[in-house]
Amino acid sequence: MEIDGESNNCWRRLRVGCAKKKTLVLLVFVTLIYLVLHWDVTKCADFLERPHENHRIRLKPAASPAFNVFDLGPQDYQRLVDLNDFYFTIIDPEICNAPVFLLVLVSSAPDHLHQRLNIRTTWGHRRTEVRIFFVLGRVQDNNLQRDIENESEIYRDIIQGNFLEAYRNLTYKTMTAFKFMLYHCEKASYVLKMDDDAFVNMPLLLNFLKNDLSVYGTDNLFLCNDMTGSPVIRDAHSKWYVSEMDLPGDVYPSYCAGWYVLLSPDVLFRLYESTQKLKYLSIDDALIYGIAAQECNLIHTDFSRYTLAFRRLDLLFNGTYDWLPLLFGAPNMNPEQIKNCWLFFRTRPVLASLRGALGT
Ligand SMILES: *[C@@H]1O[C@H](CO)[C@@H](O)[C@H](O)[C@H]1NC(C)=O
Ligand SMILES: *[C@@H]1O[C@H](CO)[C@@H](O)[C@H](O)[C@H]1NC(C)=O
Ligand SMILES: *[C@@H]1O[C@H](CO)[C@@H](O)[C@H](O)[C@H]1NC(C)=O
Repeated sequence: MEIDGESNNCWRRLRVGCAKKKTLVLLVFVTLIYLVLHWDVTKCADFLERPHENHRIRLKPAASPAFNVFDLGPQDYQRLVDLNDFYFTIIDPEICNAPVFLLVLVSSAPDHLHQRLNIRTTWGHRRTEVRIFFVLGRVQDNNLQRDIENESEIYRDIIQGNFLEAYRNLTYKTMTAFKFMLYHCEKASYVLKMDDDAFVNMPLLLNFLKNDLSVYGTDNLFLCNDMTGSPVIRDAHSKWYVSEMDLPGDVYPSYCAGWYVLLSPDVLFRLYESTQKLKYLSIDDALIYGIAAQECNLIHTDFSRYTLAFRRLDLLFNGTYDWLPLLFGAPNMNPEQIKNCWLFFRTRPVLASLRGALGT
């Protein structure tokens, strides 16, 4: 991964050095050694994640539109991968009229009312620069549907698609979230796709976006926890089962674990466009962030160094973890753990930038 733009001169400085004439070779060599041994290169290299050097995030000017939804064709709105009769069962078309700095789209289970309430009162509490929406599938239980509609009226942050809620329908849910962004919330500078059982260190994330990236948004931003070498599960009893017919091959292409993915709008558009043309697969992250991403030549960058692996939750609370900048909490947290994470970070000073934090 590499970042173009004013705020990052590290690579440019090296390249300028290398281009100098013969007489300067020694000086350049010494400079390089100096840079390698000292903070500058170490910081950049860490930050830019060497294994993904060919992923370039472009810091772009404010005005350039990232995508044109009309390119998707007139039928696209009603289409959802292999469904042809899609519509939103809950949506307020006016809801996202103003530009938003960070749009957070949370895949949520319809009966997770408590989880959503917990997010609204912890990391997802109201901020002017952030909008959070919960994305749900259709339910057959009328009482539950009434509760969801009531919740939607109170908080105005529920998006529901007409596909039936089911684990094997998770790809529809992510694509519904993407469709909502593209057609109804297109004035977002950044998009964060989350699950409802994870934590976001929102103040640090906002500082990272503004100070390490750009207040105007970027192009080609695609950060997540990398999944490389994941086998396709052929055990018919597994919830991740995929038949040989649906997908041949033993291993998925590298993809993003779906519990948090940070995207710029242009990347979201390309992933959506590409997934719309593919055969449906229930493993949403492998399909959208792996197979579809490969189809449209998108590369993600691993950001796992800024995430809390679930097994290290203990470390966070007994003081062993507090020096490490952390943006995203582990998946599969219960509301109590999410709340504790939020309380933990609320009492700590917020770094202005991830850059300065490295090497501590
Ligand atoms: C509507 O939702 C609110 C908040 O979740 C809850 O307190 C209230 O009891 C609900 N009302 C109905 C009629 O379900
Ligand atoms: C997924 O959604 C589709 C469309 O609503 C529905 O026909 C199908 O039964 C759902 N799948 C499962 C496993 O429930
Ligand atoms: C913190 O928790 C971890 C994991 O349970 C444990 O290994 C470690 O010894 C604990 N450290 C302290 C200082 O209690």
